[in-house]
Amino acid sequence: MRYSPSPDVLILVADDVEANRELLAGILEAEGYSVLRVGDGLQATEALLSNSKGIDLALLDVLMPGQSGFEVCQAVKSRAETRLIPVVLVTGLTATGDRIRGIECGADDFLSKPVSHEELVARVRSLIRLKQFTDELENAETVLFSLALSIEAKDPYTEGHCHRLSEYAAALGERLHLPEPDRVALRRGGIVHDIGKVAVPDAILLKPGPLSPEERLVMQQHPVVGERVCAPLKSFGNVLPIIRHHHEKLDGSGYPDGLRGKAIPLTAQILQTVDIYDALTTVRPYRQPVAPEEAFRIMHEEVRRGWWDGRLVEELQALLQGSTELAGRLP
Ligand SMILES: [Fe+2]
Repeated sequence: MRYSPSPDVLILVADDVEANRELLAGILEAEGYSVLRVGDGLQATEALLSNSKGIDLALLDVLMPGQSGFEVCQAVKSRAETRLIPVVLVTGLTATGDRIRGIECGADDFLSKPVSHEELVARVRSLIRLKQFTDELENAETVLFSLALSIEAKDPYTEGHCHRLSEYAAALGERLHLPEPDRVALRRGGIVHDIGKVAVPDAILLKPGPLSPEERLVMQQHPVVGERVCAPLKSFGNVLPIIRHHHEKLDGSGYPDGLRGKAIPLTAQILQTVDIYDALTTVRPYRQPVAPEEAFRIMHEEVRRGWWDGRLVEELQALLQGSTELAGRLP
């Protein structure tokens, strides 16, 4: 990975005064960056939101016709696709109010006019380095998600399963007032929980009939393999227990560790509850989907058998009944 300036790094410079624009652009180009110049806020917003050119950082003058630097910054930071683009606001030297407003708009940094050459280069370099780290992290996640979805795609009967799980599990986590990191983990876990199936041969993975005891042993390794696949990614720390324990049962009869009761992480139990519901209510090779009421009747029976936490089943039931948005998507 490169941290040194490179023409591959594109910086947007937005200023309505041509002399200012050229001064900043000249310094950056001399440092080896590519620069996109725009003369007002509207053009800046358009270039950043479409981001077809792959802008890595934006330097915005605060006072511009059309849209101010604040408005451009706010537009960029309010969208998931562009919020990671670093934004530097160029403000007047004594404008304390500008800085406060800039922070509220999500600006990453400020430069005071007149802009010092050294300060500009130092700020840009450190923000670009940070952006490259973030990009790398996003790429690693994207690879994992793609791998997980390609495994799902092997089986036509499970189409859409991972995305539904991701949504339902995060919604159930929210209903249970779980902290944000757990809800993020549930969203990710929904997609990657079965990623360990990459190590299960297709003959077993796609076998239409029941598995032999040996085949079952291979299949039951998928949570362990999945945990290993995702372990190097630091941001997946909270996802690992979900991957490893999504097939445990409260009475200790699950796998891979035979954990009992509270030893099973709550997030893993949440994902599992949603997983079972989704499996019951979607079509499979040898059975038709059951209606939601029947799925919950079966799940409550399994609660009595000591497998699942009845409270989670009830919460999911209440969630699906209460949310027309989610319930509307039931198969
Ligand atoms: Fe699984």
